[in-house]
Amino acid sequence: MAAKKNGAFSLCFEVLCLCMLSAVAIEGRVVPLLQSYHKSGFRSTFRALYDTSKYGILQLNNGLALTPPMGWNSWNFFACNINETVIKETADALISTGLADLGYVHVNIDDCWSSTKRNSENQLVPDPKTFPLGIKDLADYVHAKGLKLGIYSDAGIFTCQVRPGSLYYENDDAEMFASWGVDYLKYDNCFNLGIKPEERYPPMRDALNGTGRTIFYSICDWGEDDPALWAGKLGNSWRTTDDINDSWASMTTIADLNDKWAAYAGPGGWNDPDMLEVGNGGMTYQEYRAHFSIWALMKAPLLIGCDVRNMTAETFEILTNKEVIAVNQDPLGVQGRKVHVTGTDGCLQVFPLLHPFLAYLNGATDCDMEYR
Ligand SMILES: *[C@@H]1O[C@H](CO)[C@@H](O)[C@H](O)[C@H]1NC(C)=O
Ligand SMILES: *[C@@H]1O[C@H](CO)[C@@H](O)[C@H](O)[C@H]1NC(C)=O
Ligand SMILES: *[C@@H]1O[C@H](CO)[C@@H](O)[C@H](O)[C@H]1NC(C)=O
Ligand SMILES: *[C@@H]1O[C@H](CO)[C@@H](O)[C@H](O)[C@H]1NC(C)=O
Repeated sequence: MAAKKNGAFSLCFEVLCLCMLSAVAIEGRVVPLLQSYHKSGFRSTFRALYDTSKYGILQLNNGLALTPPMGWNSWNFFACNINETVIKETADALISTGLADLGYVHVNIDDCWSSTKRNSENQLVPDPKTFPLGIKDLADYVHAKGLKLGIYSDAGIFTCQVRPGSLYYENDDAEMFASWGVDYLKYDNCFNLGIKPEERYPPMRDALNGTGRTIFYSICDWGEDDPALWAGKLGNSWRTTDDINDSWASMTTIADLNDKWAAYAGPGGWNDPDMLEVGNGGMTYQEYRAHFSIWALMKAPLLIGCDVRNMTAETFEILTNKEVIAVNQDPLGVQGRKVHVTGTDGCLQVFPLLHPFLAYLNGATDCDMEYR
């Protein structure tokens, strides 16, 4: 069946469950399908397509991230305009909308939660104006709802918004986070003194481990020095690119950059092409569907970046698509990758996944949409 789609930015996406039980069965079905798209003959071997040689099972081995993390982060919508009220209201909204039941359990505070200076004992302190009750209070609040609290710091001397960074304070800061009941740390890359990320990120891994509290370690080094190559033993996820912005150009650029690291993702450690922009207004409904679907296929963290207290019906529909979430949370944890591109502006893209999905992205203008 084929449906003609016209008009600027008309995109279509379908995920088809082929319900196949083994890789052999998948091979038998997928290879002929790919051959049919490849006029000059299908040359790559099936094994090359499904290269999982670097598939790093549980390298960091802290028991977390068996599937990509799901939740929310404050930055993409609120940036620095955060406070404990908005974090609590977001936790409430994750519950009342049903998003938490679908797996969105991380409530992650990004930059700007902290005072601009450490206290006299060199400890990090929450900004007294915006977080007067402190982070422990927030952690207790979200834990009481069955959610998890995430916090943010930086592998440099300042955060990107010029709050104190954790470089050289890793042990003290990790102890503080653990004492507050923090479950997740996003660790950024600003003001890093030009020291290589391979040197700056391990001390925080060891510091978090040393607290005895199980804390998700999200390495945010913007893809510097290709962290897929070395971060598997350090973090539960690692950013593969620079920051996303709320545009089709940014989203697709980042997706293409993230694609090449597919072989390094696996249970315990994931490539992170940055947080979702779905619902923030810079893309069309179809573009956001494509964004969410590609992130799901790439086994990316699904961290919502909009105001979940005030989502449109369309945003809610995209973020709650159970079939797409199931692709992301497939326990085998093999990252889908782009193996074939054709049509106007590469509008038909094929991403095979080992188990049990085959997916088609049908993007750009004036493109036939095929269902099989
Ligand atoms: C808390 O932050 C939200 C979101 O930026 C804002 O709308 C609200 O006015 C703030 N509340 C206080 C008390 O500052
Ligand atoms: C610390 O690291 C060890 C070795 O990988 C691991 O077994 C343990 O679960 C880790 N503990 C925490 C709290 O992350
Ligand atoms: C968003 O990202 C795209 C692609 O990288 C870039 O061309 C554009 O300038 C960015 N927009 C903003 C507002 O930063
Ligand atoms: C809710 O979102 C709409 C846009 O979708 C916006 O116009 C409105 O101001 C928002 N309301 C609040 C209370 O933030």
